[in-house]
Amino acid sequence: MNRVKSGISGLDELTEGGFPEGSSVLISGGPGTGKTIFCMEYLYAGAHDYDEPGVYVTLEEGAHNLWWNVQRFKWDVQALERDNKLKIYKFEPTGDYTDLASQAKRIVEKARQVGAKRLVIDSITAFAFWTNDKAKIRYSIYVLIEELRKLRCTSLLACETSGRKNDFSSFGVEEFLVDGIISLHFFPPSHYLTIRKMRGTNHDSNVHPLKFGDNGLSVDPKATISWDDLKD
Ligand SMILES: Nc1ncnc2c1ncn2[C@@H]1O[C@H](COP(=O)(O)OP(=O)(O)OP(=O)(O)O)[C@@H](O)[C@H]1O
Ligand SMILES: [Mg+2]
Repeated sequence: MNRVKSGISGLDELTEGGFPEGSSVLISGGPGTGKTIFCMEYLYAGAHDYDEPGVYVTLEEGAHNLWWNVQRFKWDVQALERDNKLKIYKFEPTGDYTDLASQAKRIVEKARQVGAKRLVIDSITAFAFWTNDKAKIRYSIYVLIEELRKLRCTSLLACETSGRKNDFSSFGVEEFLVDGIISLHFFPPSHYLTIRKMRGTNHDSNVHPLKFGDNGLSVDPKATISWDDLKD
């Protein structure tokens, strides 16, 4: 199986070398747990280090907020945009807002147009919020994941949760559809990461401190705390 490097220092050692190519991985966590930074670092690494073009689909954050979030890491995202290696796509639904499957296909079309090998949706929670019909939500996320898989585009879906440690999704369905889940936690003053699932992978399942450094996020594969010590 081909593996796609996460770009997060230390993380790929925990997943047998990276995300399975074409898979969709939920990056779930409460507010301020690092979901956006994680996703942006994944795209930045792809474009800058691995020659893998990426699309960042943002539903709520304006581009200026994104710069704000990442400028301290000195990632020259704008240069990559100019070189067509990284595309920021501010998604606005058209037509029937509640027809999420059609909206999902528009996102897939964007990935196809730019030949994206990597894609981020920030957030899948905001994407699915246009309806409260769970069947539509589940079907649209299924369509999204399967179409991206056909493109062999490896995707991260940021997902907003309550922040409780056993809470992995917003709607209670996303976690069963995706191939992987990386769960982020923030118990001030410390951030943590754990891999809850990664299909086809003998992955690590410990809780690791997540560090925010000048070059981005990092995980020490050897540093762990017990699940019970993770507060709820
Ligand atoms: N240099 C840093 N050192 C330590 N923590 C940092 C640093 N930069 C950002 N953070 C932490 O990351 C958080 C912001 O990360 P990010 O925007 O990726 O979170 P998020 O999970 O996407 O949040 P939201 O749910 O609001 O979208 C900050 O609130 C702060 O806790
Ligand atoms: Mg965010």
